[in-house]
This record gives sequence, C-alpha cells and structure tokens, in this order.
Amino acid sequence: METEQSESEKNTAAPAGQGASQRVAVLGGDGIGPEVTAEAMKVVRAAAERFDLKIELVELPWNADHYLDTGETLPDGALEDLRDNYAAIFIGAYGDPRVPDMRHAADILLGIRFGLDLYVNFRPIKLYDERLCPLKGKGADDIDLVVFRENTEGAYVGVGGVFKKGTPDEIAVQEEMHTRKGVERIIRAAFEYAVRQGRNKVTMCDKSNVMRYGHDLWQRCFAEVAEEFSGIETDHYFVDALAMQLVRKPEMFDVVVTNNMFGDILTDLGAALQGGLGVAASANLYPGRTSMFEPVHGSAPKYAGKGTANPIGAVLSASLMLDHMGHSAAAAAVEAAVASSMTVGETTRDLGGSLTTSEVGDRLAVAVSSS
Ligand code: NAD
Ligand code: IPM
Ligand code: MN
Repeated sequence: METEQSESEKNTAAPAGQGASQRVAVLGGDGIGPEVTAEAMKVVRAAAERFDLKIELVELPWNADHYLDTGETLPDGALEDLRDNYAAIFIGAYGDPRVPDMRHAADILLGIRFGLDLYVNFRPIKLYDERLCPLKGKGADDIDLVVFRENTEGAYVGVGGVFKKGTPDEIAVQEEMHTRKGVERIIRAAFEYAVRQGRNKVTMCDKSNVMRYGHDLWQRCFAEVAEEFSGIETDHYFVDALAMQLVRKPEMFDVVVTNNMFGDILTDLGAALQGGLGVAASANLYPGRTSMFEPVHGSAPKYAGKGTANPIGAVLSASLMLDHMGHSAAAAAVEAAVASSMTVGETTRDLGGSLTTSEVGDRLAVAVSSS
C-alpha cells in the first residue's frame, strides 16, 4: 500500500513505558457513522491481533445525541488530550437533522482539523475493481490519483457576517482566507509525497482566473515550490476544467493539490469514480503528530440503523491510520482484504452485493486474521 509519510514523519509514538499501547480515540459520530466505525474497529482489532500490535481503542461519546443531551460539543481540554495522549483519532461522520446549524460538527470535526492544525487532507482516489467504475472503458490503471486538500483555511475559516438579516436588504459576507504559510505547506506536502511515492506529476487546481488575490497566491507559491522539485512534472487546471477532465480522462492525474473547498467537492466526484461515497477514505494529517482518519462520506441519516451502509470507506481510512501509526504490513493486509472483497462481490448493496454492514466487517476481519 502507498504510504503518505516517510518513516520519520509517522506518528509511531506510544506513551512512555515498556510495551505501552498506542491509543486511538474513536468517535463514531452521527447517523451511519457509529455503524461504519464499529466495522472499521472490528478490522483494526483483527489486524492488531494478527500483527501483534498493542492498540487501545478508546471510545469517546461526542456526537449530536451527546450535544442535545448535555449542550457539550467538545469538552474543555479535549484537543490537548487528543494531541498529547493519543496516536490517532478515528471519526465516523457528523451531521444530524436535529442540529441544522451543524454546531456540534463544526466544533468537533472542524475543531479537530483546525485545532490540531491537520493541514493535509489526504484523499486517495483509487479504483479497486473496474466493474465499480461508472466511466465507460476505464479501469484500475486509469483511476489512481491522490488529492492533497488544504485543510485549515480557505472558505472554511468562518470569517464573515450578516447585515440586516431577514430584511430585503440583507447582506451576507463569507471570506476565503489563504496564507502564504498555509498554501506553501500543502503544496510542498504534495510534491514531497510525489517524490516519496514515485509519482510523476503534481497538478494544481484553482480558480485564479476569477479569484485574483487568493488563488493568485496559490499560483505564485506553486511556481516557487515546484522549482525545488525539478524531477516532478507540473500541470495546472482551473477547477471547472479539472472536474470535466476527471470524468473524461482521469488517467491524466497523479497528485492533485487544491484548496479546502475545491478539494471537498472534487473528492466526492472522485469517490464516484471508485464505486461511490461508501468506499472513499481520507486522512487528516499533521506529519509526525496525532492525526485524524475518517471516511469521505457523511452521516447519511436516511440509512442510519438499517445495516446497509458500506463500511469500506471507514475500513480503508483505518488502513491509512494503521500506516500512519507505523504498521504498514497491517495497513496493507487491510487494504488487500478490501480489494479482494470487491473482486468476489462480498459487499453491501451500493456495490452490487447483498451483505449487511456488519457482515462485510466480519468478512474483512476474517480475511485480515488469515492473511
Ligand atoms: P452523505 O455522504 O452523508 O450521503 C450522500 C449519499 O451518499 C447517501 O444518500 C448515500 O446514497 C451515499 N452514501 C454515503 N455514505 C455511504 C455509505 N457508507 N454506504 C453507502 N452509501 C453511502 O452526504 P449528505 O447526504 O450530503 O450529508 C448528510 C450529512 O452528513 C449532512 O449533515 C452533512 O453535513 C454531513 N457530512 C458529514 C461529513 C463528515 O462527517 N466528514 C461528510 C459529508 C457530509
Ligand atoms: C468532508 C465533509 C466536511 C467538509 C463537512 C461535513 C464539514 O463534507 O469531510 O468532506 O466539508 O470538509
Ligand atoms: Mn465532503
């Protein structure tokens, strides 16, 4: 499996003490989040046993129910505790119709991304079985790219306000923020990854033809950082054209680097190329520090409790997590189990199979145990 970090950048740190466990904070979240998380942790437990890893899974209760019951989203000191006492954080999904302003999700999900400065949102777009691809004539060789989504600024900073709210003269302002430091570090992360993984090309995606200030900064940073990586080919597309090319000719992309909002949108499109939102995985990284792992999909409230949610996106996110924790063989075994489950059709209905969420998890756990 491809790794997103070099050995020295991985967070293999365990609390002091001979043979101490690496702790993982497990936040199931809302909707289908807890269901897919349970399966991902089933597979992590199987991998830990098979590869003799000491991993302690610590379930934390923060979700919409908890917020509605107690008024608490993320407790005081939670970010410091996560940063100092856990090797990784695993999240299912957030979003609940009873909390229309997403207050708890903003505090928890974006709170962890921003609070722990997890500036790389690493989202692989990889097709494991060509029958799952909606594009005519495209196979696994054509769809194998990674998106480096900036994860701590852009349109997500929440800077803005409303004036004369509720009147016909209402004005709403929502700013994008792009800092030289923030832009440069995500672009550099994309190039460094390309070098480490033997990928040939980094493509930048922006809308600098319209966003003449913010995205022009991206243009200038990209040109400067690219100079440091002369062996890597570079390319550029405006986001509208890139979305079109991703559907028309996905094989032209290798590593794509882009801002927070465009990365969000393009990776749902990318998920569709892989078989759907149920299979796409992500890692929210600060190299070398406690990082957070979650499927790309949301809480899909309509499907909660039905046993139909596909756990593969969560399981592949757990594979990225194991890799980040320094367990590359375990990570590879999990990824291989997922790939073969797709090949033999042992999947949930969204991928054409007939298994329930937990049946898929059970089979993946067995496959990892016997790997
Ligand atoms: P969603 O990803 O929850 O669901 C969209 C559709 O994708 C579903 O209707 C379903 O058809 C499919 N889908 C998603 N996950 C699946 C799975 N595991 N298995 C099979 N099919 C799956 O997106 P949405 O409906 O736009 O959002 C629902 C809620 O989730 C909202 O509150 C939204 O804000 C939130 N959300 C959270 C996250 C996150 O926590 N990271 C991500 C996206 C959306
Ligand atoms: C994602 C989600 C989140 C985002 C939402 C739930 C805040 O869509 O992780 O892709 O926009 O980043
Ligand atoms: Mn999204």
